[in-house]
Amino acid sequence: MLYTDSEIISTAIYGEILHAVDTFTKDHIAIKKMQLLQIHRMESIEAYGSQQVYENAIQEAQVNQIIMSQGGHPNIVRLREKYCDKNWLYLVFDYYPKGDLLQHVMSRRRPMTIHKALTYFHQITQGVAHLHSMGKCHRDLSLENVLLSDENQAVICDFGLACDLDTLQSDRVGKDFYRAPEVSDATTEYDPAAADMWSLGIILFILLTGQPLLESTEAANQRFQLFQRYGMKRYCRQSQVDLSKPCRKVLEQLLHLNPAKRPTIKQLCKLIHGLRKKYSKYLKCNHTY
Ligand SMILES: Nc1ncnc2c1ncn2[C@@H]1O[C@H](COP(=O)(O)OP(=O)(O)O)[C@@H](O)[C@H]1O
Ligand SMILES: [Mg+2]
Repeated sequence: MLYTDSEIISTAIYGEILHAVDTFTKDHIAIKKMQLLQIHRMESIEAYGSQQVYENAIQEAQVNQIIMSQGGHPNIVRLREKYCDKNWLYLVFDYYPKGDLLQHVMSRRRPMTIHKALTYFHQITQGVAHLHSMGKCHRDLSLENVLLSDENQAVICDFGLACDLDTLQSDRVGKDFYRAPEVSDATTEYDPAAADMWSLGIILFILLTGQPLLESTEAANQRFQLFQRYGMKRYCRQSQVDLSKPCRKVLEQLLHLNPAKRPTIKQLCKLIHGLRKKYSKYLKCNHTY
């Protein structure tokens, strides 16, 4: 017996995520347990509202293995090992007892400070920069898929929808709140790297304001229609969302309706570096945000 009895952290249609303890090292670990039957069909189906999401367990294992084979990254979940038995594939990860960033945001009464939001966001962008530099896109970036380490480092997980960066995609995947408009639009192929940038914009917006921007980017969604018509600045004013100008400017770029106009992850890392510098200067002058 390699691991002690485990408790379920989360369930999904393909299986479950378990918390367990390594009987030899006594380390706490998380095991993503996926049904082989589903894997042989190369996909499992999970419902997010009315939308079906196809997750590819093989892809998830491969992306995690590629990252680990190159030494891993502090902002990407650490895969310890992978094994199979007759019915299941098991991915064994480090366990992050603080859970995911959505749980963290929901447990707070007020939005976090700009400084804190930018710190987490910087860490997330570092993880995404590493992923993109390895030729992979995530396609399901969301607060639920960012874990918090003991040292409060943001750590990206869940590569079930990852794909090659240099190949246009046509699957309508990801969570409604975070899905780029061109991904929601069933008629076009899309650049997955630019779609990741939109999702990062949504993550930044939630970290800064404590609330989602849009429930969906489907053409029929009324709030999305307002967002398209008004643009970021007026949409936020109408929704009584208070954003500082420098943060809003970065969000305008990430949430550009034209995917080709969004920054690349490298450009975003520079923008966030500039923003953090600006706010740390203000903080030194005793301003509170
Ligand atoms: N290594 C881990 N440590 C702690 N919690 C985890 C870990 N991995 C996943 N979780 C929790 O389980 C949830 C689902 O895991 P995830 O890999 O995103 O699976 P799914 O494909 O079902 O979304 C996450 O949102 C997080 O709350
Ligand atoms: Mg997930």
